[in-house]
Amino acid sequence: MIKLLILGPTGTTGRIISSLAIEDDEIEVVAACDVTQIGEELGAVLAVNDPNNIQINDVKNLQEIINKTKPEVAVDFTTAKATEKNSIICVENGIRCVIGTTALSKEFLNQLKDLVKKYNAPAIISPNMAAGVNVLFKVSEILANYLNEWDIEIIEAHHHRKVDAPSGTALKIGEVISNSIGSNLNEIAKYGREKGPNKRLVGAKNEIGIHSIRGGDIVGDHTVLFAGPGERIELKHQAHSRMCFAVGAIKAIKFIVKAKEIKIYTTNEVLGL
Ligand SMILES: NC(=O)c1ccc[n+]([C@@H]2O[C@H](COP(=O)([O-])OP(=O)(O)OC[C@H]3O[C@@H](n4cnc5c(N)ncnc54)[C@H](O)[C@@H]3O)[C@@H](O)[C@H]2O)c1
Repeated sequence: MIKLLILGPTGTTGRIISSLAIEDDEIEVVAACDVTQIGEELGAVLAVNDPNNIQINDVKNLQEIINKTKPEVAVDFTTAKATEKNSIICVENGIRCVIGTTALSKEFLNQLKDLVKKYNAPAIISPNMAAGVNVLFKVSEILANYLNEWDIEIIEAHHHRKVDAPSGTALKIGEVISNSIGSNLNEIAKYGREKGPNKRLVGAKNEIGIHSIRGGDIVGDHTVLFAGPGERIELKHQAHSRMCFAVGAIKAIKFIVKAKEIKIYTTNEVLGL
């Protein structure tokens, strides 16, 4: 059984991951830490039968909880600020992390890369753990290679509570495409298009336009548009529920516990794409 620590078990995605993990024969949830609903029974919060009767612990006591419960893997879908603090504690304790939180800073990612090696604790960081989205990354890479003369735009839509924009997934699509066409996303990304004073609206040539829409309870839509003379191709992924991310997180937990190479993996590697 994989001994699992859940960070953010009361969150929108964390709840689904927690339910799947509790019901999985290969996983034993040994601890759950959050900043809310502290002291409540995880099973009761999720309305599932938790054989371990885990209580939600205050994340402030993370080191103490780790000492007591000895998790092998931690799964983290929280906030960038929380992940940047908590995953360092986990890695320093040799715990293998599965991180779904987005908008992580470059400094943190570099720091984690070194810590993973130092503490012999490989991790997975993925802005989108849904299988379909990871296939979309792959297909976008292939199309960009054939259609590098065409205009390329990425449009994403999410619920109005989302704190980061553009989405980590849109940025990842942009990164995959720019690598495929031999460019650097930082140099060719154009976030939104607007006509300012004395400015002419310029076209999309030699740029990747990235556009964000925020509204209602949209779980997550990503469209990649390749437009050429007289024709276009649109690739579209729509998440109907957060189940696709949670299923991906469970796969990632089972993958990372066995991973041999000490490094930071992506979902591509989990899915063998
Ligand atoms: N990688 C993916 O597949 C994927 C999919 C969905 C969401 N996300 C990302 O996951 C993150 C969470 O998304 P969500 O929609 O579930 O958010 P949410 O706001 O519903 O949940 C966040 C959870 O984190 C908890 N939290 C806050 N600070 C904490 C701390 N210091 N320690 C422990 N827990 C803490 C909150 O109480 C809450 O339970 C976001 O960054 C989002 O972009 C990634």
